[in-house]
Amino acid sequence: MLVDIHNHILPGLDDGAQSMEEAILLATNGVANGVTHIIATPHHLNRKYTNSSTEVKEAVANLYRELSRKNIPLKILPGQEIHLTANILEELDNNLLTLANSGKYILIELPNNHIPTNTLEVFFQIQLKGYIPIIVHPERNAALRRNKQLLYEFVNKGALIQITASSLIGVNGRSIKKYTKVLIKHNLVHFIASDAHHYVKRPFLLKKAYQYVKKRFSESHVTYYCENAKHVLFGTEFLPLPPVGFKKTRHL
Ligand SMILES: [Fe+2]
Repeated sequence: MLVDIHNHILPGLDDGAQSMEEAILLATNGVANGVTHIIATPHHLNRKYTNSSTEVKEAVANLYRELSRKNIPLKILPGQEIHLTANILEELDNNLLTLANSGKYILIELPNNHIPTNTLEVFFQIQLKGYIPIIVHPERNAALRRNKQLLYEFVNKGALIQITASSLIGVNGRSIKKYTKVLIKHNLVHFIASDAHHYVKRPFLLKKAYQYVKKRFSESHVTYYCENAKHVLFGTEFLPLPPVGFKKTRHL
């Protein structure tokens, strides 16, 4: 069982798959990477895209029907990649989807170049409501690349971190690859996900990423990330490895 907790496979909802054909090709790429369960996470509440829970669930049902018809052995579950907005707490009660609709984990995208000053407080409020926030690809956030200690603070206060497979194997540049490795060493990574958008331009790459983790770190790291993703699927909690802080902020 291999679970991908972040991707854009649902056709026509965002900048991911643009048609059912593209979604099927991306699904086939997922299967080739060993993926068995996909939690589909279209963008939500960012400046360009709004995808309500109802729309996401319908799109999941449509894609799953097509996959079954074509005998592609992949389960699809609903989710959202939620941009951190001012009204996220009110939205949480009404229209937001937890990952796999299991009531526990939510996928949160921070702005690209800065961290809103109230982020820690918002994460705290999210947790008070019984949810666990997962921050997506911090390696793509310039402010978090400059300030790893801040990321440590988020984790220390209960947030979890997902890095992207492509970043870890160097597709997004050497400095980003290096940053993701530092996060792994400091126990600041809880999930590796594909963030797949397109079967050629932004494919799954999970197989390569896990092979890299096994070679560069250990097999138990691979097991840890795979097991954590299963917990997200089932909505169960797990005990993360204790995060290790940084003595001082270093610039990449
Ligand atoms: Fe994404």
